[in-house]
Amino acid sequence: MTRSTDGFSSTALRWSRSGDPFLWVLDQRLLPQSETWMPVRSTEDMIEAIQTLKVRGAPLIGVAAALSLAQTALRGTRADVLVQEASRLRAARPTAVNLMNALDRMVRFVRTNPDPEAIAGEALAIAWEDVDLCAKMAEIGASLIAEGDGVLTHCNAGALATAGVGTALGVIARAHGLGRKIHVFVDETRPLLQGGRLTAWEMGKLNVPYTLIADVMAASVMAQGKIQKIFVGCDRVATNGDFANKIGTYAVAVLAHYHGIPFYVVGPHTTIDPHCESGKDIPIEQRDPQEVRGAQGAFGSVTWAPAQAPVYNPSFDVTPASLVTGWVMDTGLFDQDAVRNGALRMGQPSAARPR
Ligand code: MRU
Repeated sequence: MTRSTDGFSSTALRWSRSGDPFLWVLDQRLLPQSETWMPVRSTEDMIEAIQTLKVRGAPLIGVAAALSLAQTALRGTRADVLVQEASRLRAARPTAVNLMNALDRMVRFVRTNPDPEAIAGEALAIAWEDVDLCAKMAEIGASLIAEGDGVLTHCNAGALATAGVGTALGVIARAHGLGRKIHVFVDETRPLLQGGRLTAWEMGKLNVPYTLIADVMAASVMAQGKIQKIFVGCDRVATNGDFANKIGTYAVAVLAHYHGIPFYVVGPHTTIDPHCESGKDIPIEQRDPQEVRGAQGAFGSVTWAPAQAPVYNPSFDVTPASLVTGWVMDTGLFDQDAVRNGALRMGQPSAARPR
């Protein structure tokens, strides 16, 4: 990646002042069958991309929304209209707090400095900061992985979900890059298969040895002694250490506890919500029942349940702090004592600090 104020390029996002439009995103709904880049021309495009999970992952949706707002600013949109656009983007999805933190930071900036070039600079600063945060987490977390470890992960917390190397997958990729011989077990992650489609794709690109398993197989793999560590990402962390992540993460944490396997959550400080004291305060997105009645993607579309089958489809669940061995943040590695003593309170997002 080349660091510049005019351009930004990551696995899932491209920003170039010489392009038309400036902002393009990799359509993650189509992976791994097709690597198709989608232009983002408007706030509507960005909202649609976030809601349909073309752009997904907590840090990435914050970065992408900030850049979308910057593009609108560079087209000569007035500051008061930008504030309204930011509030529409902010509401695109409810759980990942990075979206709110990034847009609140943008709005604070627009109110004090409405110059479009400066606004674009702020959005790019958010993107580059995410790159740095990922690199720090990768370094800290990789030290927890030993030669020969079997590592399990859930959902996709990789380069596709951030502007950098990822959170949980960044840690795993770094350990692999340091030469540790590891094997990754990838939960497929029903209903939208972020593990089977996206994490498997990333592991393959990075040449990290992995095995894809259906979510229901995790217990059995743990019982066989194949998993020594578990790393997952997060969408919102409460100050008491409870955290929301992709549905199924809580089940993995319970299984880890039963089998005595260390369970780590990896996230930047921009995923902490200082207004959530516990997981009970975290809003959980409910999604389209059709996602559970069947499966849809570049692989095709199939419905196996009765067309009107009643469905419960929360996109995220909350894992209580009591099940977490360690919180791998860009600011350090925290254990249960540190979190009880307020380590995550001090990790208030820079995005939430008055500028
Ligand atoms: O619905 P998604 O695919 O956006 O959910 C993403 C996750 O739950 C990730 O695990 C989380 O955002 C961490 S990403 C670094």
